[in-house]
Amino acid sequence: MRLDVGLVTCLATFSGLAEAFWRLPCRGRAGLARLDPLVDRGKDSPHVHAIHGPDTFSMSADMNSLRDSSCTSCAVTQDRSAYWTPALYFMHENGDTEIVNQVGGMLAYYLLYGHNVTAFPENFQMIAGDTYKRDFKWPIPDPPTSEWSGEETSQAALRQKALGFNCLNYNQAAEPSLGRHFLPNKTYLDEHCTDGVRFEIMFPSCWNGKDVDSHDHKSHVAYPSTVMDGTCPEGYDTRIVSLFYETIWDTYAFKNKKGTFVVSNGDPTGFGYHADFIHGWESGVLEQAVKKCTSLSGRVEDCEVFNIQSEDDQRKCKFEVPTLLKNENVYTHKGGLPNNLAVQYGPAYAGPVSNTTATSTQAAPGASVSASIELSIDLPGIKGHVMLEQSTSKGSTTAPTWTATPTTSYIEQAVTQAVVYVEQKVIVLVDGKGTPLATETGALETVSTVMSTATNVISTVVTTPTAPPAKRDTHRHAHRHVRNGHHH
Ligand SMILES: *[C@@H]1O[C@H](CO)[C@@H](O)[C@H](O)[C@H]1NC(C)=O
Ligand SMILES: *[C@@H]1O[C@H](CO)[C@@H](O)[C@H](O)[C@H]1NC(C)=O
Ligand SMILES: *[C@@H]1O[C@H](CO)[C@@H](O)[C@H](O)[C@H]1NC(C)=O
Repeated sequence: MRLDVGLVTCLATFSGLAEAFWRLPCRGRAGLARLDPLVDRGKDSPHVHAIHGPDTFSMSADMNSLRDSSCTSCAVTQDRSAYWTPALYFMHENGDTEIVNQVGGMLAYYLLYGHNVTAFPENFQMIAGDTYKRDFKWPIPDPPTSEWSGEETSQAALRQKALGFNCLNYNQAAEPSLGRHFLPNKTYLDEHCTDGVRFEIMFPSCWNGKDVDSHDHKSHVAYPSTVMDGTCPEGYDTRIVSLFYETIWDTYAFKNKKGTFVVSNGDPTGFGYHADFIHGWESGVLEQAVKKCTSLSGRVEDCEVFNIQSEDDQRKCKFEVPTLLKNENVYTHKGGLPNNLAVQYGPAYAGPVSNTTATSTQAAPGASVSASIELSIDLPGIKGHVMLEQSTSKGSTTAPTWTATPTTSYIEQAVTQAVVYVEQKVIVLVDGKGTPLATETGALETVSTVMSTATNVISTVVTTPTAPPAKRDTHRHAHRHVRNGHHH
């Protein structure tokens, strides 16, 4: 199956889709702002979102306030739902960023997969994806769905397979939807994707039948076994309409510029792409549409239930940015992403900075700031608890303190133990008061590996690794030293 749209101004009809569906265009972008009424209700969001839907979208939008709107930036006027995703930025070599042009608004597909598909219940809302993800542990490319087994069918795996980054070149055969789960690098985009890149995301379509939301806005819903279709996991037996968003970003406009593309949440990989939805359909209309809008053309014009407004009217509908954010420039930003959000390459789970315990003092010019940060890391083949001593000083070089964390193990026979020293740049950004705002982590590099063998003992082994043999530049960077677990 392939979902795709041809040129933005001309909606392609598509074949090969046996299931009924409709493709809801939202030609207007209702706003671009650091707002997320699901995750950061009543306050500003750390990152910028491209928001589609009604003019009453706000920090505390819900179904009722959305329904009270006077317009929507989408095609069907009875739909006052809110649809939003992070925006895409281009980061120049000097660190300045600018928004990438969004082409044609966005498309929200409503797909009627499965049996007994029901409309979203009143007050329903949900999130797809995970903003902190920076890795993908499953085979690339996806094996055929019939071969998925074990962990590959876990919700964690399905959630990541629900992301797609489609390289667009309208002179060539289209790539399949959800065929690539990461954002291609700039070299690749420049070379192949002459019409930009289409971000795709599929929402879960299995519902627990009772909760209209949950603490993480995810656990009341689940993915069916093949992301789009298949069987629902136990306890999530109610099949709701499948939602799928497509947003095109004109990355090709930056072809001759040096830099990288970064999603607004500080993610250059794409693994942390996500999307949000608040149901705002006029009461009863979605229920009717699920029953009646079964044309295979996918055109909203082909369903009598819908009242359609012009593209111009869709483009006119904008919400008012709240006072707190009114003067923030979300189109260009000096020295980083809007809100100075750090770029986190992973592969470690990015996490909010509040996840670190840090003690630091005000960074006066020439003064030195030090912070001790404890992190748990989970890397392929390496698990460890790391004590990180971070030192920042202006005008001088400070070596980080090496703190080894001994581990205790019981061994029964010969084991070879590998102590792997890895190094990773960790830059902690602090505000004027010394409160950490964000961390930026570089790639992990193995500095050295030391092998040792213990034989025939049943005992407690406590090893304290010595400081790593090699140190790289320590100026303004902290290093993480990871002691590996045992390799049997
Ligand atoms: C669909 O709903 C009908 C009526 O409630 C029920 O008889 C049928 O078993 C359901 N089908 C599936 C596949 O759940
Ligand atoms: C960019 O991606 C391509 C394809 O995945 C890869 O072959 C290439 O090495 C990457 N280039 C850089 C600079 O990372
Ligand atoms: C904080 O980090 C731990 C691992 O050390 C992780 O399990 C937890 O989910 C993180 N918390 C948040 C809020 O991300």
